[in-house]
Amino acid sequence: MSEMWDSVAGAWERNAELVDVQLTAATAVMLDAAQVGPGDAVLDVAAGPGGAGIAAAARVGGDGRVVLSDDAPAMMEAAARRTEDLPAVTTVVCDQTRIDAPDESFDAALCRHGLMFADAPAAAVREARRVLRPGGRYVAMTWDTREANPWLGLVLDAVGEQFGVPFPPPGIPGPFSLSDPVLLEDALRAGGLDDVEVVTVATPMQRASLEAWWELVPQLAGPLAVALAGMDDEVRAAIRTRALGYGAAAARPGDDGIEMAGSVLIASGRR
Ligand SMILES: C[S@@+](CC[C@H](N)C(=O)[O-])C[C@H]1O[C@@H](n2cnc3c(N)ncnc32)[C@H](O)[C@@H]1O
Repeated sequence: MSEMWDSVAGAWERNAELVDVQLTAATAVMLDAAQVGPGDAVLDVAAGPGGAGIAAAARVGGDGRVVLSDDAPAMMEAAARRTEDLPAVTTVVCDQTRIDAPDESFDAALCRHGLMFADAPAAAVREARRVLRPGGRYVAMTWDTREANPWLGLVLDAVGEQFGVPFPPPGIPGPFSLSDPVLLEDALRAGGLDDVEVVTVATPMQRASLEAWWELVPQLAGPLAVALAGMDDEVRAAIRTRALGYGAAAARPGDDGIEMAGSVLIASGRR
């Protein structure tokens, strides 16, 4: 799995601002739920290029610290480049089920779009709980249902319908694996957290055009980027045509181009 994410780290680094803009409001909700404030120690789990942790760094200030962690080394190299001017931020390569940090060493742990890729989400939550001080908070953001996220779901549909099988295949962790709020809540409870709550936040995607949407999304959707790279040009072109057709039906006029609906779940709990 980490090799797959390493292979798309360059695209994530180039497009990190776009991802962070789409998630700005939802990330603020996440930080509020984690009660991140001045002087706090915050862990960002499955941090990728670090957008959630960078937002946390602005809240913890000079007396706090933020550790960005991810099991894909190229993602952590990208995160280190993005945060070289932020002295409170450091990076570490580790899996979310084997966090390289002492027990009870953080006030809050964030996981933005990483928990759904764990084979055993409750085990990942339990490991994050281990590094929280008593009373510390864990907050995970996951994608809401495929239907609520046409900006991503339609691209996956176009691939699946090209081959007549769902993409990603059922049973494989993917972006929508924790889109059921009951499953997400259960993962936090089974990981040992109390006071678990799940809220929904709208995260529409704005792009200059449908073509710009198609150019961006397949580069970032890890398993999809790898799958597309291995296909013949004609197959890729057929998927593109299909996706642009679906996108035309789903897009609405945006501030400066088009907008597609998006939505996330934000689950929080306390150690
Ligand atoms: C969809 S990206 C999200 C990146 C970032 N959190 C953000 O919101 O911009 C998913 C990230 O999860 C990481 N990841 C997937 N499985 C992981 C695991 N088991 N342990 C740690 N990181 C993992 C990937 O390397 C990738 O950086």
